[in-house]
Amino acid sequence: MIGKIYGTGSSLPKRIVSNDDLAKIVDTNDTWIRERTGVARRRIIKEETTVSMATEAAQKALEQSGIAAEEVDLILVSTISSEVILPCTACEVQKNIKAVNAAAFDINAACAGFLFGYNTAQAYIAAGMAKTVLVIGSESLSNLVNWKDRSTCILFGDGAGAAVLKAEKGKLLPSVSHSDGKKGEALTCLSRHRKGSPARTRDLQAYMQMDGQSVFKFAVKKVPKAVKEVLEEAGLKADDIDYFILHQANRRIVEAVAKRLKTDIEKFPMNLEEYGNTSSASIPILLDEMNRKGKFVKRQKIILAGFGAGLSWGAALLEW
Ligand code: COA
Repeated sequence: MIGKIYGTGSSLPKRIVSNDDLAKIVDTNDTWIRERTGVARRRIIKEETTVSMATEAAQKALEQSGIAAEEVDLILVSTISSEVILPCTACEVQKNIKAVNAAAFDINAACAGFLFGYNTAQAYIAAGMAKTVLVIGSESLSNLVNWKDRSTCILFGDGAGAAVLKAEKGKLLPSVSHSDGKKGEALTCLSRHRKGSPARTRDLQAYMQMDGQSVFKFAVKKVPKAVKEVLEEAGLKADDIDYFILHQANRRIVEAVAKRLKTDIEKFPMNLEEYGNTSSASIPILLDEMNRKGKFVKRQKIILAGFGAGLSWGAALLEW
């Protein structure tokens, strides 16, 4: 069995924060941010929460799919920015959408989270352990960003995206998931709840810290490699793929991946200009935008690729 996407949804905070807005709080400017990252503005939560955005994205995905919430038997939420540790965001979504027959749990794989969630959903479906799965990425990264650190605060944004997968007859398509914990220090965020941690006093260590150049090099090396692994297993060439939906971290990373795969950049849709890096939400938000614009045609081949803290990365082939 294979999980087919029956519907997608997304939810974005109403508040828009431009690069010029950020230039009022840190020493930066619109030109620097656009040239280095491609980001022009991002959405930042006000009343919204990780749970409320995940719920809205899930509801929209279900509505589009025509699948009732009671039919869902598994809810996976990828997030690193839940407001509470317990209960998990997935259980809160289950309660809100009344998916009374679903098991629910969260996945922490940062910006590779939606991809890992998607692969987990496919594995459950292939094993016959689930028939209808909601995979959601939801992030309130603005709660984890140090708004005094210009090297990180300009990169991130908030939002959520979801896809509902339903089991159909068919062979599981190739996918890969990788992690390298030895390189974990390249992108960290200590818990504010850790006993004895200075982070408890909300000092800088409670926020995301990143070695930007290491992360950049990691992404442009590992993502094309993961995509090639998937292509090889599927017996396909990059030219056979209609769209590459990459985690939206940085325009230069997406362009470098396209170049390494010797593929037209037109096949790499981007929306990071509008939303910045929304971690595990970026792939499903982009999927939903493309889907609602009618860009996908039945049987088109799409590769999803995620990468980020852990370090973790992966790719998956799907047929629309
Ligand atoms: N505005 C203006 N100047 C800034 C700045 C900002 N927001 N942030 C950093 N700078 C300055 C630095 O202080 C440095 O100044 P110096 O030359 O006087 O020391 C200069 O710009 C260059 O900084 P550097 O960190 O070398 O820039 P960079 O070209 O590596 O770009 C990133 C920084 C973060 C944009 C880039 O490394 C990157 O995109 N990395 C990947 C990050 C990522 O995507 N992470 C998430 C993955 S899931």
